[in-house]
Amino acid sequence: MPVLVVNVDHVATLRQARMGIEPEPVTAAYMAEQAGATGIIVHLREDRRHIQDRDVRLIKETCNTRLHLEMAATKEMQGIALDIEPEMVCLVPEKRKELTTEGGLNCIGRETELRDFLAPIHEKGIRASLFIDADPKQIEAAVATGAEFIEIHTGHYSDAKEYRQRGVELDKILKSITLAKGVGLKVNLGHGLNYRNILSFKNVSGISEYSIGHSIMARAIYVGLDRAVRDMAELVRTFTD
Ligand code: PXP
Repeated sequence: MPVLVVNVDHVATLRQARMGIEPEPVTAAYMAEQAGATGIIVHLREDRRHIQDRDVRLIKETCNTRLHLEMAATKEMQGIALDIEPEMVCLVPEKRKELTTEGGLNCIGRETELRDFLAPIHEKGIRASLFIDADPKQIEAAVATGAEFIEIHTGHYSDAKEYRQRGVELDKILKSITLAKGVGLKVNLGHGLNYRNILSFKNVSGISEYSIGHSIMARAIYVGLDRAVRDMAELVRTFTD
């Protein structure tokens, strides 16, 4: 059964807007778990614009499910992952000026570099995922890195305003899921997914996890975090295995 993993970065974004102490992402992570999240995701960015090192540490300590750490493939982040030992790391590209992660990681030509980067992480028993675009060449390269998972970037699909373009982007994702499963990769999806556009994947088999932050936190403003997570978790639970 596919599961929901909840990204709590936006809770930290709100806290950092005042550089204060609330809202607390650790509490949000706990509440998300109570409401049915199977895991918690944080993205520790190099510029520390939202999640801070102490958030990662505290969520790891208090989490009852599993912690996934999104991070850039840098020496500093590798050290933090080895120290904190999340259940999974997901490598993402990072640009300082972007509002959010804008595209997938380029794995082509970096297979050996990424394999070497992941080696000590794998040695600790931490699973690895690569956030990539729905592109056959990226999938081919991802296999060669030794990562067990890919997370297919659903942002282009989610952002597409025009019906036909959305269909094109969806088709790329569906083809990539089939291709990735065929070469033994496990597949997660994430970026820009909400309570409506996620329904396109309802009958698609072979998706392990949905990684969702923004739409859940946006809904939480109106209905509360518990209800927002519960609604998404229940939706995902109705999806094909
Ligand atoms: N997956 C990755 C790799 C991301 O960078 C993000 C955004 O932080 C997400 C999933 C979640 O995207 P959203 O907040 O749009 O649900």
